[in-house]
Amino acid sequence: MSAADDQPSARVTEEETRRAIAAAARGSAGGLDPTLVSSEIGLVAPFRPPKIRSELAEELGIDEGDILDLSANENALGPSPKARTAAIEALGAAHRYPDGGAQSLRAALADRHGVTPAQIVVGNGSYELIDLLVRTFVSPGETIVTGWPSFVVYRLTALSYGREALLAPLRHHRYDLAGMAALVDRRTKLVFIANPNNPTGTYLPRRHLAAFLARVPRSVIVVLDEAYGDFATAVDFPNGVVDFKGRPRLVVLKSFSKAHGLAGLRVGYAITDAALVYHMDAVRQAFNVGSVAQAAALAALGDEEHFERSRRLVRDGRVELERRLIQLGLEVVPSQANFVLVRLPNDAAPIVERLRQKGILVRDLRGYGMPDAVRVTVGTRAMNLRFLLVLEDLLQGV
Ligand SMILES: Cc1ncc(COP(=O)(O)O)c(C=O)c1O
Repeated sequence: MSAADDQPSARVTEEETRRAIAAAARGSAGGLDPTLVSSEIGLVAPFRPPKIRSELAEELGIDEGDILDLSANENALGPSPKARTAAIEALGAAHRYPDGGAQSLRAALADRHGVTPAQIVVGNGSYELIDLLVRTFVSPGETIVTGWPSFVVYRLTALSYGREALLAPLRHHRYDLAGMAALVDRRTKLVFIANPNNPTGTYLPRRHLAAFLARVPRSVIVVLDEAYGDFATAVDFPNGVVDFKGRPRLVVLKSFSKAHGLAGLRVGYAITDAALVYHMDAVRQAFNVGSVAQAAALAALGDEEHFERSRRLVRDGRVELERRLIQLGLEVVPSQANFVLVRLPNDAAPIVERLRQKGILVRDLRGYGMPDAVRVTVGTRAMNLRFLLVLEDLLQGV
């Protein structure tokens, strides 16, 4: 954990920071004014959402329903029907502020995970909880540590608060836990680990994570982001809440966006020590999760059938998708998530564009330093086959 060890990763961070600032400068009409932004706030480029589906359908002259979006790791089955009904019912009380303590939802989640409600914070997607964790716990001069490529929001959040993110490059598409432990020093406040990781779909087995947790000082908050954990099938895939129960300052993040199919309603939650919850509660907005979202999440939690159907669809579909991609001669990174990272023979950009022209969206991974790779969400069998057929055609034309 010496300072010398963190040099390569620290350099990556600085370079990325410069790039983000340059991108922000290009995007702003009047150029950057460094005196405008609070010195506590770093400089990040605004999120530029991809073209919305209706615009793309119009551009391609096809029905919006014919667009196959495999770019955002959404649930191909849609929301749970019970969540849909609950959301519609909750609209009747939309003139009232939501329960700022999300009490019913927290009670149900506590019951599900064998913890107390005082150990849970509900957020506007787990995205908000990542933000809240950095904002609440990382002081000026302190750092976060994570892997790269991984979920970009960890580092962007740190950057947006003017905090430094130290990045340990992945090894063979997996988090390098030794590399991450080497970056942890007295300045480290938070470590982010996505398990399974986005965009690689790889996972960390129980015993590797246990060894890492034993090595990292207990004063460091370790965040285990299990947004995709529901799709894992590996026998040694850990359940963070259960397997690492005694570790203080462990935060397990969960999301309703994936297996529960509620990405548009924005609900996620953190399970951790009551002391951490106390401080996060003090910092978060009082009404951070809307009443419709709370009602839908509660109903989704009770809809085991939809949840299991979603998991089965992904687990079965992933096996077939991986097998067929390999048959096409492509390198596939074995995934435990609801998406697959696949390497194409050359630069992925022309294939991504040609897929788009045919109404099929996948995630280009150039921004993650993998110009020959794409991330493809596992859809229904029909969706996966449509993607595979078009891809096969395009590859023959390469
Ligand atoms: C690893 C990871 N964590 C968290 C999130 C955010 O999910 P949510 O929709 O709950 O904000 C995502 C979203 O794609 C993700 O990939």
